[in-house]
Amino acid sequence: MSVERTLSIVKPDAVAKPGATGEILRRFEEAGLTIVAMKKIHLTEQLARGFYAVHKERPFYGDLVKFMTSGPVVVSVLEGEGAIAKNRDLMGPTNSEEAPAGTIRGDFGTDIERNAAHGSDAPETARVEIAYFFGAAEILGPVEALA
Ligand code: RTP
Ligand code: MG
Repeated sequence: MSVERTLSIVKPDAVAKPGATGEILRRFEEAGLTIVAMKKIHLTEQLARGFYAVHKERPFYGDLVKFMTSGPVVVSVLEGEGAIAKNRDLMGPTNSEEAPAGTIRGDFGTDIERNAAHGSDAPETARVEIAYFFGAAEILGPVEALA
């Protein structure tokens, strides 16, 4: 395994639950992941549509965009050994109704759509998704890299 970066989104349903954002971020850190960039934003329809463009032909696309723009989200870049798989393990399966207790989606999500968190699914999607939300200067790195 190698050191990777992955994009995490704490979705609007979880951000709306008091204490959930902090607990989710705590789990990332406890698993050895480092937060190297983070912001809380309210996605515009255009940003949400673009982010989930891969699903634009799917029947749930409209609902998904509505959900993702329903309140603020916390977007972060997580770094660590095997960060992509680690994040997805911590989240659990897509459908919160099938996600075991102890997983983020099991503990903070509701169903297949309102599932508390997003995590990149592969190195290439991680690269694209990170660049979608963060400029190079917004991601922690060696100070010399910014000079
Ligand atoms: P994500 O991209 O958000 O990390 O989730 P994922 O890889 O586990 O699942 P994906 O298939 O990429 O689906 C993206 C998001 O769309 C919503 N969804 N709704 N109503 C439905 O049947 C349905 N299926 C998926 C979920 O919010 C899912 O996370
Ligand atoms: Mg996905």
